[in-house]
Amino acid sequence: MSRGKFIVFEGIDGSGKTTVINSVNSYLESIGCSVFLTREPTDNRVGSMIRKFIKGEGDYELDERVIAALFAADRLDHILRPGGINEKLGAGVNVICDRFWLSSCAYQTGAFPMEYILELNKGAMELVQPDLTVYLSVDVSVALSRVDARGEEREHYESRERLGKISRNYEKAIGIRKEADNIVIVDASRDEAAILDEVSGLIKNIIS
Ligand code: TYD
Repeated sequence: MSRGKFIVFEGIDGSGKTTVINSVNSYLESIGCSVFLTREPTDNRVGSMIRKFIKGEGDYELDERVIAALFAADRLDHILRPGGINEKLGAGVNVICDRFWLSSCAYQTGAFPMEYILELNKGAMELVQPDLTVYLSVDVSVALSRVDARGEEREHYESRERLGKISRNYEKAIGIRKEADNIVIVDASRDEAAILDEVSGLIKNIIS
């Protein structure tokens, strides 16, 4: 049996990731592909703890280095746990993951350099490699207007200045990981149909 493909979606908040992922998932299921749809932070123990802290619902403020280490730990568990990424890929299932280590490079780089984050994620990088990483590239103003249109309260990471910094970190991380992670930059400021068309084409190319 051939190994499943590991497909990662990345982008700033408001890049349209969720919509694209759901459509790609439906498309793959409609053509009979087995798909495991997953996300980070995960809904497992470490991931749930992270969500609580990044929403400011922890009982104290965690240092950014601790947060970065928790994201790396959640990722290792995501890959290695029973029913996790590596088990699914080994069973021939295609895995679609909403965010992966590129998110850590983008969101956790700040008080300390990106090299520190890359180092923390070395363990995960030795275990799995994305067959395709789709980076949904969008202007901060477009992203923020999408977030506002959803009528949701802005999260910790969604202020304009912060999203701008995250975007620049993504660009830097893409420069470092482009080949290793098979990153393709997709212009996500276009209408949904055009984005889906391009992304489905990319996926068709890697799924036989
Ligand atoms: P969530 O609302 O669950 O998902 P999304 O914004 O992708 O729809 O938020 C997840 C948040 O976690 C998001 O703001 C990015 C952040 N994050 C990091 O800071 N580092 C990471 O390594 C990952 C995977 C996510």
